[in-house]
This record gives sequence, C-alpha cells and structure tokens, in this order.
Amino acid sequence: MHILGVNAASHNSAACLVKDGELLSFVEEERFDRVKYSTAFPIQSIEYCLSHAGIGMEDVQAVAIAGIPRREMMLSATGWFRNAFRPWYRRWLRNQILVTGIYKGHRQKSRLTGRMGFPGGLRYVEHHRCHASSAFHLSPFDHAAIITVDAQGDGLASAIYLGEGTKIRQVASYRFPETSIGHFYDCVGEYLGFRPVKDAGKVMGLSSYGDPEVLGSRFSKFVHFESGGRVRFDLDFMKHERSGRSCRRFISEFGEPRTPEESPTEERFAHAAAAAQDMLEKAMLHLSEHAKKLTGAPNLCIAGGVGLNSVANGIIVRSGLFDDVWIQPSANDGGLALGAAFSVWHEDFGGARKFAMEHAYYGPGFTDERIREVLEVSKLPFTEVSDPAHFAADLVANDRIVGWFQGRLEAGPRALGNRSILVNPKRAEMKDIVNKYVKHRESFRPFAPSGTEEGAAEFFNIDRPSPYMLVISDVKPEKKDAVAAIAHVDGTARLQTVNARQNEAYHRLISRVGELTGTPVVLNTSFNIRGEPIVTTPEHAIRCFFSTGLDDLVIGRFHVRKGPV
Ligand SMILES: [Fe+2]
Repeated sequence: MHILGVNAASHNSAACLVKDGELLSFVEEERFDRVKYSTAFPIQSIEYCLSHAGIGMEDVQAVAIAGIPRREMMLSATGWFRNAFRPWYRRWLRNQILVTGIYKGHRQKSRLTGRMGFPGGLRYVEHHRCHASSAFHLSPFDHAAIITVDAQGDGLASAIYLGEGTKIRQVASYRFPETSIGHFYDCVGEYLGFRPVKDAGKVMGLSSYGDPEVLGSRFSKFVHFESGGRVRFDLDFMKHERSGRSCRRFISEFGEPRTPEESPTEERFAHAAAAAQDMLEKAMLHLSEHAKKLTGAPNLCIAGGVGLNSVANGIIVRSGLFDDVWIQPSANDGGLALGAAFSVWHEDFGGARKFAMEHAYYGPGFTDERIREVLEVSKLPFTEVSDPAHFAADLVANDRIVGWFQGRLEAGPRALGNRSILVNPKRAEMKDIVNKYVKHRESFRPFAPSGTEEGAAEFFNIDRPSPYMLVISDVKPEKKDAVAAIAHVDGTARLQTVNARQNEAYHRLISRVGELTGTPVVLNTSFNIRGEPIVTTPEHAIRCFFSTGLDDLVIGRFHVRKGPV
C-alpha cells in the first residue's frame, strides 16, 4: 500500500511516500522551486516521490493532507471579535480564513483529484496531530509523551499527546494566540529586525551575546506561567503594526526596534533576545513537566517549529524528566507531510509499526554517470578520484573550503553531510573567512560542527548521539582551541554526531580528518547560495560553487577546483 503525504497548507510545502508503513522518499518543495520555505503546492515533490518509486498516481491508495482547512476557519473565528480592533490580527485572520481555509482546501482537491487524476478521496489530518505523528510514529519509542509546539496550526499553538504502540491520544491543547510560544518568539524576533518563523534561529544565535537577567523582570510582566502547563502571553505586547514591524508596548517598554539592515551592535537587542530565549526555554520546560505529569511516560517526542530550538531541547534533555528524547529532524511544517502519511497508515488503516527514522536522506540522489554528463556539458575540467571521502578529508585538513555533494538529499533545515560545505574547524578565523567568501551571514550566528559518534565525546559534553543538530552541547574547555571556528561565544555548539550506518561516506571523511589533524570534527554548513535553499541537483551545486568562494567541489566521484586542476 502506498500512501502519499502532503503539506500544502503552510510554509515548507512538502511531500513524502510511505509504502507498507516504511518511508521511501521525503522532500520539501523549496529544494525544487528554489524559493526558501516555499508555500507552493508541492507538485515537484509529489512527482519526485512517485518517480523514485516507479509508480503513478493510480498506484497510490491514499493521499494524506496535513491540516484541516475548515477547522482553521472555525477555531480562528472565536478570536475574531476579541481581536476585531487589532489591525494586525484582522489582516492575519482574513488571510487565514479566506485564503488558507477555503481557497487552499479547494486548490489541494483540484490539483490532486483533478489535474493529477487521483481517483480516491483525500484524507485530512489536523496540523498538530501531524506534528505528533511525525515525532512519535517515526521515533524508536513504543511509549512516549509527545509535545508539539509552533506559532499556530489549525488554531492550536501547542499540544500534549500520549503515544502508545500505534495510537496517539491528545491529553492537552493550548490555543493560539494567547498561549503561543512560537508566536511570542516570532514577535520578539520581529522587534529585533528578523522575519517571523524563517529567522527564529537568529534570535537564538543573538541571545548568547546578551544577559537574560537585564530585561528578564520586564519580560515577566507579560509572560505568565500558569497551572496545567499553560504559559499565557499578554496580547498587548504581541500586537504587530505594519509600520515599524513591531509592537507599540514593546517599543514603549524596550525602545525603538532594530531595523533589518542594521547590525545588532546595541547591547539591548542582545539582552532582549536573551530574555526571549530564556522565556522560551522556561515555557518548553513547563510544558514538558506537565506532559510528564499527565502521561507518566518514560520518553518524550518533540515536533513543531519550536522543536528546532536546540538550546531549549538541550535543557529538556538534560533536565532528566525523561529517560530519552527524540526530536523529529523536520520539526517544522515540512514534517507535516510525514505525520499526515503515518497517521493515516496507523490510524485509518490499522498498519503496524515497522519503521523508525534513523537518518534524513530521503530526497533526490544522482548517479556518477549523470554527474559526469553535467560536468561535461558544463565544459568544466574535472578529475575522477578513487576515494571521494578521503580525498575531501585531505582538502579539509589543508584548510580548503570544500563543497561536498553525495548521495540522497537530506530533508529538514540542516545540511547533514550530503549537501554540505565543509571546513577545518581548528582556526577561529575560518568562521569569518567562510562568511566573507561563501555564506555572508550575520557575525553573531555560529557555525555548527559534525563529529564522529565515537569521537565526539572527547570534544563535547554529550552523553548520547545527536544525529540531527537539534540539541546544543558544551564544547569541553580544554578542546576549544581544537574546534575554535565552531564554538559559539557561550562555549556551546550545535553538534551533529555521525555514524557509519547513517552515512558511511561522511563518517569516513570525518574519521580521516581526525587521522590527519587529530580532531575528528568538521565545520558543516549548508551547501547553498545566500538566500536560496540547500542545493538539490548537480547543476545547483555547480552554480553555487562558481558564484561563491568555495575552493573545491567533491561531487560524486569527481573533483572540480578553482584554477588549474
Ligand atoms: Fe506547525
């Protein structure tokens, strides 16, 4: 039985294909249409999933759609009168209700049953239930509490579930907007000059430069920790105005907002980011404690966009509330496609659990023959290498900036070693060099490391694998000099651990770097041009290679370098 999972109702449109309860393919539309966080109907993702399996739409038994268009409309309507005089909410609701609620529902149906010729009915799965399924059904756990936390989806901001076997039961839910942790974080982000949802990681990066105590007590005036796991935010503070893109009470309390173009030189912005991050961490812990109390479950699963906050995740993991924690690597709305498909497989069709997600490499891959053709057609000088992993490791050890393109594209917001730019992490100035020649990012944003699973504990304070860069850990003080380019200002790093089962080539590469330099760690940043999604095809990789300051490209079995070969 083939089930096609689709997210087409929010940002990060995506599709996946599940066959008899096992994931075959999963990709976000942005990787094809080259629009970051694309909201387009994921037609190219669907076509990829079908062609990868060698099937047509007529071979699909069920299409699972994330989100219930009319549910969004009904749930939001109760807030309409309360927010009637608040222009930002009025605009937001009009878009959500009229455009998202009705139009998107019709559009999904007409594309799938009309143009794509799907003969069956569509099955809609509620937004947070999709997040919950993507976290629990794909985890290694049989019995777990689940928390789903984002800005909002289908009218909910967060929810707690109990997962047992194939069943998921909601035990608490929290309504948008007054209890929305994600929306609160977005609002502070906008005040700081960042885009909602898309730039949440920048708030986290900046927060390390501030002191949460400086503005903490003033934040406490409008953030209320209540019983039942609830955190309530005063909406007066959260109101957005288009002019200035910020909140009036925020401005009166904290001063003029930062403009997007300005670099965050003022300390008060870093202090505001630190206070917001501190509140988010406390809110996530508050919710996790309530999840433990309600379910008594030994393990915890996390999904929803706030689940990408690796600092908060680290605090939950280290709190000891749960024996183990599993976070869906596509915790953002891209992962809704997974949750929709697995929810339908387990709950509509009574399918058994036989799949746990152990890696994220479910997108398009390319043969060496295809890559060779692309290089030849591009009239590029290239050489074939016998061992790409060791070859690339030599380049990294020699302080070259290396584009590394291998295997199937990884899903989710992080490059995990198949579409990555790799650099020797030893010299602190490599961070600035990568920024100057390739990434052009704000200086306060850290770069992340990948280390071998067996070697990482020598450099980082970790007690378990971290395969998806979703949990922050401390760099061991005595090892900071060995990995200076990836240690954040507060001495932390967003580590990816790699083992040979998940990614044999990448593991060999990092191991070889360890043999050459004594440090089995590389700086790993996503392979993309600034403002674009991670590269998908060899053509994308070549374009990125030549329009940035990359030194070398190791693509399949081939090597391309700037200058004479
Ligand atoms: Fe969501």
